[in-house]
Amino acid sequence: MLKVSIAAEEARTSAFVVLKAALVIAILKIENEHLNYLQMKYRKLGETALDLPVITFGAWAAGGWMWGGSERADAIEAIKASYDLGVTAIDTAPIYGQGTSEEIVGEAIKELPRDKVFILTKFGMRWDLPKGDFAFKSKDNSGRDIDIYKYAGKESILKECEDSLRRLGTDYIDLYQIHWPDTTTPIEETMEAVAQLIKEGKIRYAGVCNYNVSQMEEAERIVKLASNQVPYSMVKRDIEREVIPYCQQHNKSIIAYSPLERGLLTGKMKPGHAFSEGDHRAGLHFFRDENLRRTNAFLESIKPLANDKQISLGQLVLLWTLEQPGVTITLVGARNTQQAIQNAKAADASISTEEVAFITEKLDQLQLVV
Ligand SMILES: NC(=O)c1ccc[n+]([C@@H]2O[C@H](COP(=O)([O-])OP(=O)(O)OC[C@H]3O[C@@H](n4cnc5c(N)ncnc54)[C@H](OP(=O)(O)O)[C@@H]3O)[C@@H](O)[C@H]2O)c1
Repeated sequence: MLKVSIAAEEARTSAFVVLKAALVIAILKIENEHLNYLQMKYRKLGETALDLPVITFGAWAAGGWMWGGSERADAIEAIKASYDLGVTAIDTAPIYGQGTSEEIVGEAIKELPRDKVFILTKFGMRWDLPKGDFAFKSKDNSGRDIDIYKYAGKESILKECEDSLRRLGTDYIDLYQIHWPDTTTPIEETMEAVAQLIKEGKIRYAGVCNYNVSQMEEAERIVKLASNQVPYSMVKRDIEREVIPYCQQHNKSIIAYSPLERGLLTGKMKPGHAFSEGDHRAGLHFFRDENLRRTNAFLESIKPLANDKQISLGQLVLLWTLEQPGVTITLVGARNTQQAIQNAKAADASISTEEVAFITEKLDQLQLVV
């Protein structure tokens, strides 16, 4: 009898120990997730209700096209790993891999509650309809020749939106942006289509990409714009002259794209760098040997600061970019989980006004050959 009750007592005690351990693990997990989210910083986009992570995932390279291909599984894992670190927004476009990038995004977010992730996508670049402004000749991911057109006619936009919703596996898009201006369609017609999509609940907010000030003014007559998505990096600062002042004055957000200047500003590329077949970077002046030498010398001059903060050069570059007046968020591309985690964690660190000024002073001495 005594033996039985001792055995029962022991069983109760071990069940209690197991339960306690499970509880501690669950609490630690919740705290850890919470901490991860606390480290990411969020900023409001224009006058919208969108609070976007300062490091938003850019899914162009994920689609492979113009980047020498990509691994679908790696891209999906990269998006998921970013999300776990608070990267709750993803920017994509139909043209990125001719639908592939949007499909990858749809796959990566399919198990997430829809209201916990923000989808930014675009319209107005067609590879399957020779209409509008001819943009350039290209090859799709399977090597087939394609002609790319910038076209933003009303019917085309309505169709593109349906296609994007299907590929993304959702029934609404948080921010819908014209990808490039189309000079063959009145901006009024384009923005009327966007306004209609807002009314129908298929998109929440309107944005533009690569628009100048007068194009923004014209669009704004038809629909309220949240943002302009424009190229901005330490070595590409053209928008500081007109677009940034206009956006600041009118409460529009700047979504800065290619803030690492497509990998250049991580400092990993050395003169003689060989890109994979089909990687568009091979033809850009930033990656000429002389420019790699000059950029790397500049990066070396700010490396001690990165070392002091125990962060990478790329992370320091992102911190500087986010402190520039008018910049709301950055879109950062990543090929794999490792890059995605490093980029997301840039938001864990901080940078002082003096440190920003120190970097800018060094940067002002950098001149690239065009
Ligand atoms: N609206 C537009 O017209 C437009 C145009 C361009 C881009 N965008 C958007 O902006 C996003 C970001 O721009 P982007 O992809 O052109 O340039 P980016 O973010 O400056 O650079 C991304 C590339 O840099 C490399 N990289 C990223 N993180 C790294 C890390 N931690 N360590 C080492 N290398 C790293 C990767 O390429 P490798 O590993 O191959 O070097 C990656 O694909 C795009 O995905 C897209 O959403 C929009």
